[in-house]
Amino acid sequence: MLEVKNLSKDFGGLQIIRDLSLKVEAGERRVILGPNGAGKTTLFHLLAGTLAPSQGEIRFDGAAIGALNAVRRARLGMARSYQKNNLFESLTIRENLMLAASAALGKSGKLFRDPRHDAAVKARIDEIAEQIALTETLDAQVSTAPYGIRRQLEVGIALATKPKLLLMDEPTSGVGPSMIDHFHRLLNQLPRSITLLIIEHDMDLAFDVADRISVLNFGEKLFEGTPTETKGNAMVRSIYLGEREGGEHNA
Ligand SMILES: Nc1ncnc2c1ncn2[C@@H]1O[C@H](COP(=O)(O)OP(=O)(O)O)[C@@H](O)[C@H]1O
Ligand SMILES: [Mg+2]
Repeated sequence: MLEVKNLSKDFGGLQIIRDLSLKVEAGERRVILGPNGAGKTTLFHLLAGTLAPSQGEIRFDGAAIGALNAVRRARLGMARSYQKNNLFESLTIRENLMLAASAALGKSGKLFRDPRHDAAVKARIDEIAEQIALTETLDAQVSTAPYGIRRQLEVGIALATKPKLLLMDEPTSGVGPSMIDHFHRLLNQLPRSITLLIIEHDMDLAFDVADRISVLNFGEKLFEGTPTETKGNAMVRSIYLGEREGGEHNA
């Protein structure tokens, strides 16, 4: 469903992504693993259309999308959960989901009646709340919600468009250990109608959630395989685990 061929990105003469090829099947959970600065976030920008590649080809759902901007890629079913917070602080979780759901359902125009009373919007909010396990917390104000809950909500907002492919950039960064477990379950519960591409620095979560793992290092794909294959690969261990043992955590 996603195919990347010989993708490269230069920034002022520096090659940040080098000749990267990648194929993700529909419904797959693919984790992108790699040390800080490997080019993971840049890769997501190239996929989502917020950065233009220097070279290479991207196919999504059978179509070449390299020439499409981010909005048009989103319309084709690509969504992205951002590393930076993108939430309305003074509103509740329900209201944040309502805005996302009514926009996605095309009901945010002022000619429409109040989306709070729209049955389709309400149903969509309930559905998303259940997918991200926030049903009990819907009426909490975002500004008072713990960090982990906010990260969950970001996933919910990305889900509002019913994406085919969800790009998640370090969904658990800055989230405490108990919340990481919670995120494992949450990601495992998402329907397989959504393909997941997840940048993750938590190895346990990566191994738990992924069908396959692609390891990036200096913009290149160093290794790709199942979690078991990845764990057992000597090159991956020396590069990725070596960095962790050196204490330089990827955050
Ligand atoms: N807009 C930019 N201009 C120049 N260099 C950039 C830009 N964005 C990222 N980089 C560089 O690209 C490299 C990869 O960054 P990034 O994709 O954020 O890595 P990761 O997400 O794997 O930590 C880093 O060395 C970073 O400094
Ligand atoms: Mg990053």
